[in-house]
Amino acid sequence: MSKEINLNTLRDEIYKITDKDLGLTIKELNALSDIRLEENTVQIYFDLIQPIHLIAEEINKECQSIVSRLFPGIIAEVIVNEQPFDINRDILGGVKNLIVVASGKGGVGKSAISANIASALSLTGAAVGILDADVYGPSQPTMFDLKDAKIFAVEQPDGKSVAYPTERYGIKVASMGFVMKQDEAAIVRGPMLAGYFSMLFEQIEWGALDYLVFDLPPGTGDIQLTLTQKIPVTGSVIVTTPQEIAVADVRRSIAMFNRVNVDILGVIENMSYFVPPDMPDKKYYIFGEGGGKKIAEDYKVNFLGQVPLNIQMRENNDGGKPIVLADPENHQSKILREITAKIISEIRKLNYKKSIDSDLEISI
Ligand SMILES: Nc1ncnc2c1ncn2[C@@H]1O[C@H](COP(=O)(O)OP(=O)(O)OP(=O)(O)O)[C@@H](O)[C@H]1O
Ligand SMILES: [Mg+2]
Repeated sequence: MSKEINLNTLRDEIYKITDKDLGLTIKELNALSDIRLEENTVQIYFDLIQPIHLIAEEINKECQSIVSRLFPGIIAEVIVNEQPFDINRDILGGVKNLIVVASGKGGVGKSAISANIASALSLTGAAVGILDADVYGPSQPTMFDLKDAKIFAVEQPDGKSVAYPTERYGIKVASMGFVMKQDEAAIVRGPMLAGYFSMLFEQIEWGALDYLVFDLPPGTGDIQLTLTQKIPVTGSVIVTTPQEIAVADVRRSIAMFNRVNVDILGVIENMSYFVPPDMPDKKYYIFGEGGGKKIAEDYKVNFLGQVPLNIQMRENNDGGKPIVLADPENHQSKILREITAKIISEIRKLNYKKSIDSDLEISI
C-alpha cells in the first residue's frame, strides 16, 4: 500500500469527525490544515474556533482511535491551533472571552458560582481571570484567600496609569475589595466610584486571557446596565435559585441583557436541592422544584444545569479555595465542571457565528 493512499484514507476519516459544539464536521468546517507523515509518526494539524482547550482533547481522542485502527503501530500527534480571532480593542484588549455572571437578586450564590466557573475554566488549561466589581460586598477576596491584597495604579513614563491583578491558584484576580479602603463601601459613591470602576476596567493589564469571568454586582440597576454596555461582553450567565421570588428577578436580568444586546449563554439554578451526606439516595428540594428550567423554557434561553446545596462547597468557598480546585473529582465539582463545559460550548457557538459574519463582511 503506498503512503499516499494511506494518507488519503486517513484524511477521509478525519473529515468525518464532528465538532460537537458546532454540530459540523471537520470537512464542513474546513478545519484540517495539514497532515505530515514522518517515519512512524503522523502529525495532524487543525484550526478550530476558540476556545480550543476542551475540543482539542476530544479531537485528539478521535484521531488517536482512527490512526490506531487504520495504521497500527503509527504514532499520532494532534496539533490544534486557534483560528485567528480579532480582539483588537481599547478596553480589555487581551481578553478573548468575557463572561458576565449576573443575578437579579442578591445572595443566590453568584459569586460562589463565578469562582467555581473560573476555576473549572482554568482546569481546562486556559488562561483565566476573575473580576469582582461588587462595591457593597466583594466576595472574591474571601473565595480566593486574598483578603489582604491591594492593587494600585502606577503611572507609566507615557503618563498612562496601569494596575496589575493579583494571582491565586494560577487564576488572575481583581476585586473592588482590592481598590477600596476598608469599610468604605457604605460611603463610596459618585466620582470616587467612577474612579474605581475606571481602574478595574481600563487600567488593569490582564495580559493575554482566554476567559475573564466577571462577577457583576447583584441587581439590574444603572450600575449593571452601564457596566454591561461599557465592556465587550461575549455572553452572560444568569444565576437563580428555584423559588418564585428569585425567578421573577431573573426575568428582569434577561430583559436587561436583551436591551443591551448581550447574548445569554444560559441560566444556572443554584441551591436546587440537598442530598444529605448520610442519605445519598435522598434529594430534598428545599426551595421548590423546577424554577430555573421553567424560566429557561419560557424565555428560550439555555438551561445550563442545577447546582445542589452542598456543605463542602460552602466551606471551600468561604475558606479561600473554590471546591472545583480543592477537590476536582468530587461529585459537586463534577456538576460545576459539566456546567462550565456547556458554557464553553455556547461560547464556541457564538464565536463561530461571529467568524461567519465577519467572513461575510469581507466577501461583500
Ligand atoms: N450551592 C451552594 N451550596 C452551599 N453553599 C452555597 C452554594 N452556593 C452559594 N453558597 C454559599 O452561599 C453564600 C452566598 O453565596 P454568594 O456570596 O456566592 O452569593 P451572591 O449571589 O454572590 O451574593 P451577593 O448578592 O451578596 O453578591 C456563600 O456563603 C456561599 O459560599
Ligand atoms: Mg456576590
